[in-house]
Amino acid sequence: MDSYLVNGKNPLNGSVSIHGAKNSVLPILAGTILVKGKSVIRNCPNLSDVFATARILEHLGCVVSWEDSVMTVDATDITETKIPESLMQEMRSSVLFLGALIARTGEATISCPGGCELGPRPIDLHVKSLKRLGVTFEEDGDNIRCKARQMYGRKIMLDFPSVGATENAMLAACSAKGNTIICNAAREPEIVDLQGFLRSMGAKVWGAGSNTILIEGGHLLHAGEYSVMPDRIVTATYMSAVAAATGEVELIGGDLQTIAPVAATLIEAGCQIQSDRKKICIESKFPLKGVRPIYTAPYPGFPTDAQPIVMSALACGVGSTVFIESIFTNRYSQVDSLRRMGAAIQVDGKKAHVNGNPFLKGAQLEAYDLRGGAALIVAALSAEGESEITGLQFIDRGYEKLEENLQFLGADIKRIKSEAEVNALFDLDVVKALGG
Ligand code: EPZ
Repeated sequence: MDSYLVNGKNPLNGSVSIHGAKNSVLPILAGTILVKGKSVIRNCPNLSDVFATARILEHLGCVVSWEDSVMTVDATDITETKIPESLMQEMRSSVLFLGALIARTGEATISCPGGCELGPRPIDLHVKSLKRLGVTFEEDGDNIRCKARQMYGRKIMLDFPSVGATENAMLAACSAKGNTIICNAAREPEIVDLQGFLRSMGAKVWGAGSNTILIEGGHLLHAGEYSVMPDRIVTATYMSAVAAATGEVELIGGDLQTIAPVAATLIEAGCQIQSDRKKICIESKFPLKGVRPIYTAPYPGFPTDAQPIVMSALACGVGSTVFIESIFTNRYSQVDSLRRMGAAIQVDGKKAHVNGNPFLKGAQLEAYDLRGGAALIVAALSAEGESEITGLQFIDRGYEKLEENLQFLGADIKRIKSEAEVNALFDLDVVKALGG
């Protein structure tokens, strides 16, 4: 697998456009199977998770095409209701097909979902919500067979504002007879985006962004057309990179409101941040100071996805900060690699005590999950000397053109093809040269 070579200490200057949000486009793509027709999704990011989702759509019988960040999904014919284990294991968000597939065909068979190693990733809240709507579940070996000849609108009380469970319930409720109310719904901006897409299909959905969502089911829907919001965690990533490496960068498409706690933290740490409706400008001149304790929480709290990334930035600064990761049980995968660079981080259960060290040194770093990998890049950009970062298959899940954008901003970062891939390319060239 490829790796990144990063030589740190280059300040970052210039502007970068923020691509469409992974965590918005994935449920929207699942929603395209609700209707017989061709839906158009604009500002669709070029990410491995998006292509894994496209493979699931094609497996189900859809015709998917992609051109210049516009993905078109023709879901006229759904010929399959079982999502194969291989595709389910590729990423957790494949569970989002449950609600839409049952809504379209009355059944769905999935295996337990895979995804990043962030600790146990149960789907009990998804199951509980769909059961409320009338879906039956039966375990069949490693598979779960779900059925509902007809779903009926109900009040769903979520034990926890799960993003995925909220999205699954919204997708399923569109075809239920009667009204569904989701209480204690997740309030993430990506939920609002899903509501926007469903409305473009003629669905009657209100309340996304609040903790109560109403879906008036049973309306005949048509193919939708929607443009995905910019990725707020990618925005937070570039902001953290500038904060750590210093410089001044404009993030075109960045929406400060969607990452307010991250912006507030970086301002408290010493950054200057301005924004208007179209962009965010961030400037960092000095090593970051320590800040008040950072508790991750469901939106509008500090986003768990930004925790590893902001931790890296603060680990390169001066002063101390305590993180409390309350969403996932195993979201400090970046700490071992950061320690190899000289970071002073003590982990105690959910807590991580970070004592900033502005003299981090480049090292051999390994990504174990998507945002933990992004965190290592942030630290490497600020460290003295060269770092090699492996595990790019995780980073490619959520970042489009990351190395190109960082190079454009002045970073010394190169993507090195794995030896096997270089040999394969070489062999191919040799074969061609020999007229093979
Ligand atoms: C979404 O995951 C995001 N993924 C995650 O982003 C994000 O970290 C997470 O929401 C929280 O914001 C996508 O949108 C594709 P949850 P999801 O259901 O839906 C527990 C990234 O890096 N839980 O809100 O899986 C769960 O174990 C990814 O882009 C149950 O117990 O998150 C976790 O502790 C990582 N039972 C907590 O709730 C369930 O049925 C939050 O999970 C479902 C969840």
